[in-house]
Amino acid sequence: MNIAIDGPAGAGKSSIAKIVAKKLSFIYLDTGAMYRTTAYYFLKNGLNPSDKELVESKCDDINIEIKYEDGAQQVYLNGENVSTEIRNEEVGNNASVVAAYGKVREKLVSLQQSIAKSNDVIMDGRDIGTVVLPDAELKIYLTASSKERASRRFKELTEKGVACDFDKIEQDIIARDEQDMNREISPLKQADDAVLVDSSYMTIDEVVNRILELTEERR
Ligand code: DC
Repeated sequence: MNIAIDGPAGAGKSSIAKIVAKKLSFIYLDTGAMYRTTAYYFLKNGLNPSDKELVESKCDDINIEIKYEDGAQQVYLNGENVSTEIRNEEVGNNASVVAAYGKVREKLVSLQQSIAKSNDVIMDGRDIGTVVLPDAELKIYLTASSKERASRRFKELTEKGVACDFDKIEQDIIARDEQDMNREISPLKQADDAVLVDSSYMTIDEVVNRILELTEERR
C-alpha cells in the first residue's frame, strides 16, 4: 500500500508521516530530503544552484542513497551521510530552486518510484499524489495557514536556541509556496482524488488519527 502526502512547507507533513509510518509499520520516505541533498551538493562545492544549465550538467555526479538506521531515514550524498547538514533554511530555499529543473526531478522521481515499488511506503513531498504515485491508495493534501506554519517553525527554532525573526520566517514560507506552486514542471497542487486536511486548528494526534481512519477505509 502507498500513501502520498503533499502540501506546502511547514504544514507538518514529515512529523505526521513519521508517526503514521511507525504505527502502520510502513517505510517513511521524505522526498524533500533528496531535493535538499541536491541543493547541498552545489552549496558545498561553491557552485550556484540558480544556474540551471550548470545544475543539469552536474546531475550525473550526484549519487543519492536512502538508508534506514534504527528506523530513521538517512540520506547519503556520494557516500557521505548529510542528513544533518541539509536541515537548514538556506538548503531548504535552494532545494526549492533546483526542484524546478526537469533533469533533477526526473532522476529523483525515478528513485522515489523504485523505493515505493518494493515497500509499503508513506511518502511526503509536493508532487507525490500527482506525479510520483498517481495510483497511491490514499492521497492527503496537508496544509495550514502561512501564519500558523511560520509560528510552528519559529517555536521549533527558538526551542533549539536559534535566533530568528517571525516575519522573515513567514516571508520565506510565502516565497517558497510561490516558487513550488508556480513552477512549470510538477508544481505543488492538490491531486483531484486527494483528501484535504487543514491542520491550522488541529493537533498532531488529530491529524494522525484522521489519516489512520482514512487508511483503514481504503485497505
Ligand atoms: O519538504 P522540504 O521543505 O524538505 O522540501 C524542500 C524543497 O524541495 C521544497 O521547497 C520543494 C522541493 N520538493 C519538491 O519539489 N518535490 C518534492 N516531492 C519534495 C520537495
